[in-house]
Amino acid sequence: MRKVIVVGTGYVGTVTAACMAWLGQEVVGVDVDPVRAGQLDCGQLPFFEPYLDELLREALAKGRLSFTSQLGATVGADFVFLCVGTPPGEGGVPDMSQVETAVRSVAPHLKAGAIIVDKSTVPVGSGDWVRTTVEDALPRSHPGRFAVVSNPEFLREGSAVEDFLHPDRIVLGGESPSLEEVARLYEPVLSQDFVGGRPHRRPHLVSMTLASAEMTKYAANAFLATKISFANEMANICELVGADARQVLPAIGMDRRIGRGFLGHGLGWGGSCFGKDVTALVATGLDYGYEASILRATVQVNEYQRAAAIRKLQAWLKVLKGKRIGVLGLAFKAGTDDLRDSAALDIVHRLIHNGAVVTAYDPAVKDLGEHHVTGLRLARDPYDVADRADALLVATDWPEFASLDLARLAVRMSGRYVLDGRGVLDVAAASAAGLAVGGFGW
Ligand code: UGA
Repeated sequence: MRKVIVVGTGYVGTVTAACMAWLGQEVVGVDVDPVRAGQLDCGQLPFFEPYLDELLREALAKGRLSFTSQLGATVGADFVFLCVGTPPGEGGVPDMSQVETAVRSVAPHLKAGAIIVDKSTVPVGSGDWVRTTVEDALPRSHPGRFAVVSNPEFLREGSAVEDFLHPDRIVLGGESPSLEEVARLYEPVLSQDFVGGRPHRRPHLVSMTLASAEMTKYAANAFLATKISFANEMANICELVGADARQVLPAIGMDRRIGRGFLGHGLGWGGSCFGKDVTALVATGLDYGYEASILRATVQVNEYQRAAAIRKLQAWLKVLKGKRIGVLGLAFKAGTDDLRDSAALDIVHRLIHNGAVVTAYDPAVKDLGEHHVTGLRLARDPYDVADRADALLVATDWPEFASLDLARLAVRMSGRYVLDGRGVLDVAAASAAGLAVGGFGW
């Protein structure tokens, strides 16, 4: 059995470690934070992710998975997965300090022939930089044989286990024979030969150069963000010319060349990845003398959508100061409690800045933690949010908002305007309940 080490037990690292171990590998997750490592070792997840706790507990119980903060555990590893964070640094350029610390700490324990697999989202060229950084940090006695492979992740929060076990493709960047060795680790996923596997829908294995794999990660996220911004731009034009984006966008999505996914219009994209990666790609372009104008526009349109929400509320309420506004949803998307770059939270900030009295409810967010907003009241349920509200905003696409008792909501409100920023409400039913629904793109 080959020994797999996963350095960094954030979102990507924990999913990778748990899924690999569940599929049969022997895996040790390493984190600098002993408390986090200790909790994970006891089967406690530091974040919410569907199905992950079951996999984690099963792999721990089978003795294939453990977590530690001791780097000594990396001794003898055949594969070292780098899954540490690369948060945005100055000018949007990813901050590589965690990657640097990780590789410098791992180098003294690296066995000859080990493969460093980079899963952290790093700017193009980082694989080579990792190689030289490790070379410089290797002990004199080391024969210098090791390889670096890029293996970008395409995990979505809220469906990360599904995305890991049933991906569309596995991308590997580097050279032979290390590429084939990493591919062998993914054998169960590639063949879909595991309980619950889907042998009729096997993923593609795509091998390429290091730089191409690193670029593929950025290009994928940039395309998805651009597709959403494109949908929003079409919706904005629809609104002006009297067309209905709810009809137009699904109709273009039926063309297989375009595809139905990521055409959901409204408040736009958020989360910890799209904004960071698009900005990083713009910065990379500039480093090489290229102005990435489409990507800049992608960000600009996304920013416009958030401002448009404020304008729509203002157009109905006239003055925001002193008005009670209820916000349904705070997470950056449904299925997660993640508040990073959440459009909902950004809009809450702007409303409060404009003097509105804001109450919010999110099924998964009970405590704002480091995202605390002074003046924001968290409500018990959606009806509590509606209490005496002059207007409501649906800001996250939680499915449960689609089945709200609209009459009950209307009775609790002082006003009757509901701005549906995610297109989840049944407009006819809401109108029948006496609500005036506003939206995007119609
Ligand atoms: C995204 C990518 O989808 C993953 O493939 C990638 O691995 C991940 O980033 C990453 O780089 O780690 P994630 O940020 O979890 O995953 O969320 P998405 O499901 O992609 O949604 C991103 C944002 O776009 C959310 O705010 C969502 O509400 C918004 N969105 C999504 C729309 O506004 N419209 C849509 O049609 C789809």
